[in-house]
Amino acid sequence: MFKKKTIQNIDLQGKRVLARVDFNVPIEDGVVSDDTRIQAALPTIEYILSQKASLILISHLGRPKGERNPQLSLRPVADHLAGILEAPLHFAEDCLGPQAEEAASRLPSGEVLVLENTRFHAGEKKNDPQMARQLASLADLFVNDAFGTAHRAHASNVGVADYLPAVAGFLMEREIRYLGEMIAEPESPFVAILGGSKVSGKIQAIHNLLPKADHILIGGGMANTFFAAQGYRMADSLVEEDSIPVAKELLEKAGSQLHLPLDYVIADAFDPDAGRKVIPVGDVPAGWRVLDIGPKTVAAYGTTLASAKTVTWNGPMGVFEFPAFAKGTFNLAKAVAKSEAVSIIGGGDSAAAAKQSGMAEQFTHISTGGGASLQMLEGATLPGLDAIDNDELT
Ligand code: 3PG
Repeated sequence: MFKKKTIQNIDLQGKRVLARVDFNVPIEDGVVSDDTRIQAALPTIEYILSQKASLILISHLGRPKGERNPQLSLRPVADHLAGILEAPLHFAEDCLGPQAEEAASRLPSGEVLVLENTRFHAGEKKNDPQMARQLASLADLFVNDAFGTAHRAHASNVGVADYLPAVAGFLMEREIRYLGEMIAEPESPFVAILGGSKVSGKIQAIHNLLPKADHILIGGGMANTFFAAQGYRMADSLVEEDSIPVAKELLEKAGSQLHLPLDYVIADAFDPDAGRKVIPVGDVPAGWRVLDIGPKTVAAYGTTLASAKTVTWNGPMGVFEFPAFAKGTFNLAKAVAKSEAVSIIGGGDSAAAAKQSGMAEQFTHISTGGGASLQMLEGATLPGLDAIDNDELT
């Protein structure tokens, strides 16, 4: 159950609302190239405006290291949003200081003010109370809809909640309901698919999932480290030498719960046009590297997925950015889509792969948070969620 106050639990009428969203979206040539996160925040934005409140939006974009960086301005995001919303939209070139203060204090109800990248200030990542207080002073209450940032404890999503009533937006609530319920009480058989390049980033998730999942299907570069732990020569494949001991431990502890690929697609260069062949799992020839799971693996994983009731997926099965090495990821996405399971896809690369596979509509939920959804799979708390006021009635 969702135990936090939401925007539906408070009166917004005539209020000045400061909403933290995650508008950390890709921008190419000054234009937003994927607006999934912006679209995901629209229900909250439109609801706040419909309540005759004025809306101040804050977000980070990229990692500007506490300094102003024109490449990482939120202006293209504000322009994009202005093209979607009917409400008048204004932009302030700093999230703190006189321009923001004046624009916020003059903002009529039903209008939107987007403030510049919060990470242009060093206080943001330090969760500096002074910065948090300054942001809070712009509004009457705080709405946190930035699920994608919930694993960070920064001034604009955590600190600010010390100074204002803090409630969750619709996206935050939806993400926590799907991911939280899946982890707390997944319907069995529960299958977790874990991929991506590094096993080191997924160790905690594997530990947390072992007592809950019926099967953990491994793919992507992280499988190489498990194969190296079994003594195979992986040639030029990405292997995390430091993680070999922990991979050995996990293999022993998990036994048949942990599934490794049966075959792989190898390449003679890390290049979209590299020579490729499919080989059964074993030593990789010198000069070659593993870049995808093979068809036998997809078939075997597909059989396991066919009877699943709950599926979670975090991390691609191969270098899906190269079409020649995307089949494993895309065909597995099809297998997940075909199963009748509740399917929850992690954000970041997994969300991008799910969309590119053409199967996006078939999944129950695609998260907008990469790091945040992984942190939930790890069983860790999210500071951004913790900072929201509890709903005393639940
Ligand atoms: C994300 O894209 O995962 C979030 O926006 C957080 O960004 P960060 O990893 O730069 O903190």
